[in-house]
Amino acid sequence: AAPEPFTVRMPTLPVLSPISTLGGQDLYYVTIKEVAREILPGVQTKVLTYDGHFPGPVLRARSGRKVVVRHRNTLTMPVAVHLHGGSVTPENDGSPMDTVAPGSARTYTYPNQQPHAPLWFHDHAHHMESEHVYRGLSGSYLLTDEVESALPLPAGQYEVPIALRDARFDEAGRLVYQMDDVFGRTTVLANGRPTPYFPVAARKYRFRLLNSSNMRFFQLRLSDGGQMIQIGTDGGLLERPFTTDTVGLSPAERADVVIDFSRYPVGTKIVLENTLGPGTPEQVGKVLRFDVVRTAADPSRVPDVLRTLPPLAPATVQRSIVLSMDEDGRQEPRGLMDGQVWDPARIDQTIAHGSSEIWTVTNANKVVPHNFHMHLVQFRVLERNGAPAGPAESGLKDTVRLFPGETVKLHATFDTYRGTYVYHCHLLDHSAMGMMANFRVR
Ligand code: C2O
Ligand code: CU
Repeated sequence: AAPEPFTVRMPTLPVLSPISTLGGQDLYYVTIKEVAREILPGVQTKVLTYDGHFPGPVLRARSGRKVVVRHRNTLTMPVAVHLHGGSVTPENDGSPMDTVAPGSARTYTYPNQQPHAPLWFHDHAHHMESEHVYRGLSGSYLLTDEVESALPLPAGQYEVPIALRDARFDEAGRLVYQMDDVFGRTTVLANGRPTPYFPVAARKYRFRLLNSSNMRFFQLRLSDGGQMIQIGTDGGLLERPFTTDTVGLSPAERADVVIDFSRYPVGTKIVLENTLGPGTPEQVGKVLRFDVVRTAADPSRVPDVLRTLPPLAPATVQRSIVLSMDEDGRQEPRGLMDGQVWDPARIDQTIAHGSSEIWTVTNANKVVPHNFHMHLVQFRVLERNGAPAGPAESGLKDTVRLFPGETVKLHATFDTYRGTYVYHCHLLDHSAMGMMANFRVR
């Protein structure tokens, strides 16, 4: 049975400490290991972790300063660590076949030659990424820069990373993993605890939201219908903030949201709700509760202009991409990108280095949602279903949702690294079924 909501407190995520900051780079050692952690109240659950943390820790990085992470794999199966949203060379991308064998270690180098963005890292070992991420192998990588840190946004204890996901537990409190189990995963976790409460002061907070679910889409709102200020998305801050009463997140998407609790008297309890299924509102409708417990000074501000995005370079190539699942009842459903299952040896798109392209991406399914993620680049969403993209998609993005039948038009510039990278549906059970393809920049 699901625990009563709001019985446990939402923890904040631990921040990793570098073991060395010499030589102009930050060096981290991470051990990938299985541990038992309390998720459901009073129950120990076995999880896969980066350094023992469930959910994964936060690594804080700064543009222009290199980060080197040595991952030691103590599991009995291979892993691959991918920095989602990161601009990295192919050897450091943690691509699906480039795995770290059990008992061995691998050093990943992140140049951080890109603007601020709420990146994250997660497992990508082919056919296993879905179960590995589900069992805990995901963490946050908050990259900042001078543009972002100069802004008077809520900071310190008032900037709170929150990883949201769903999970299925058995009677003994074990995590149950079944492929494509969209209906069974009906326990919502916020920072690794089921529907927790979080004490806040009556002032502005900046929440760095990440949907680390394998398959679940969230549509978030406050229980009083109150306004939130969305300031950022996958690729960092928007040019301008906008107020909204709802925030949508498909798997792997991020939203940077400011909530001003000063409008609530101390003692107010506001629930962050989810209005999307699968699952009933009783099961999945409540995400976490903010308890306004005290007043506090608030020198923070959300400026009208947050950043300037680079102008869109003229696109010289247009491509069309179609995502689909064949659901003809065969034993093993296949995930398809342009009608094909991923083949690691096949180059599906060849791209000239330095060029800008427009990709028109369609979900051809009638009932199954997908989304679309490209490695290496942050893209722009030009259109959704023929109309200009809304404000939440007006910034830099690396993952874009595709409800059944939807089409998005994306603009990307490939002017950083050369080599082969994947693009895929980020419903990880789908990418594990092959809904993935390769592009090569040369
Ligand atoms: Cu979150 Cu292929 O990535
Ligand atoms: Cu999909």
